[in-house]
Amino acid sequence: MRKHIVAGNWKMNCNFNEADELVNDIMSRLEEDQLPRETLMVVCPPFPYLEMTTDYANDSYFMVGAQNVSDREKGAYTGEVSAEMLESMEIDYCIVGHSERRAYYGETDQTVAAKVDQLLKHGLKPIVCVGEVLEERESGKQFEVVQRQVEQGLFHLTAEQMREVVIAYEPVWAIGTGKTATPEQAQEIHAHIRSLLAAKYGQNVADDISILYGGSCKPSNAKELFACPDIDGGLIGGASLKADDFVAIAMSF
Ligand code: PGA
Repeated sequence: MRKHIVAGNWKMNCNFNEADELVNDIMSRLEEDQLPRETLMVVCPPFPYLEMTTDYANDSYFMVGAQNVSDREKGAYTGEVSAEMLESMEIDYCIVGHSERRAYYGETDQTVAAKVDQLLKHGLKPIVCVGEVLEERESGKQFEVVQRQVEQGLFHLTAEQMREVVIAYEPVWAIGTGKTATPEQAQEIHAHIRSLLAAKYGQNVADDISILYGGSCKPSNAKELFACPDIDGGLIGGASLKADDFVAIAMSF
């Protein structure tokens, strides 16, 4: 069966010392509060801190993810970081298609698909973000927007490849705004995503894929969200910058 995953997306926060302190705080909290076996914690710091975070992860109970990857294999692409580089640093996960990258850096469903391909080729697990903006929700288009993002970003994959993917539903109006989707709003989109996966890949594959919720998830609302049948964890932004909150969220199953 699918895993429970709580992934922390630090975004562009923390200087080196703050990052070091945060990872240490997470580690000491995890020594006190043992995570249930079926819960996986993933820490996604900015690129420059991946090595330090991986060193700590080897002695702790969390895995490490990057926040972005190039859609190209290698070569003259100044400033880009390839999936092969991440693979060689033993990074396990990578966030793809976050709404901030779609909104500020022009990422399209096609870029997302190319990045997913790069990651799978190099043995990393993509955490693929989908979600509607406020105007789309207000005009009732949330199901069709998410469907398009899932189909165009992922449906070129084989069933075997699809099993390596984690999907994160993040309604853009809930990210960093303090406005969380209600468990009912989140659950109906998660169920929709799972039904799309079932129609394309079969129910067994769909049942094995973790679908995370993201958008102002915090210790006070995580339990209610994670209790929904199709919500398998969270992609946590702001609250992942506080070790106590992040670990409390991971303990919310
Ligand atoms: P937030 O961000 O938890 O701060 O709303 C979530 C995300 O962007 O992944």
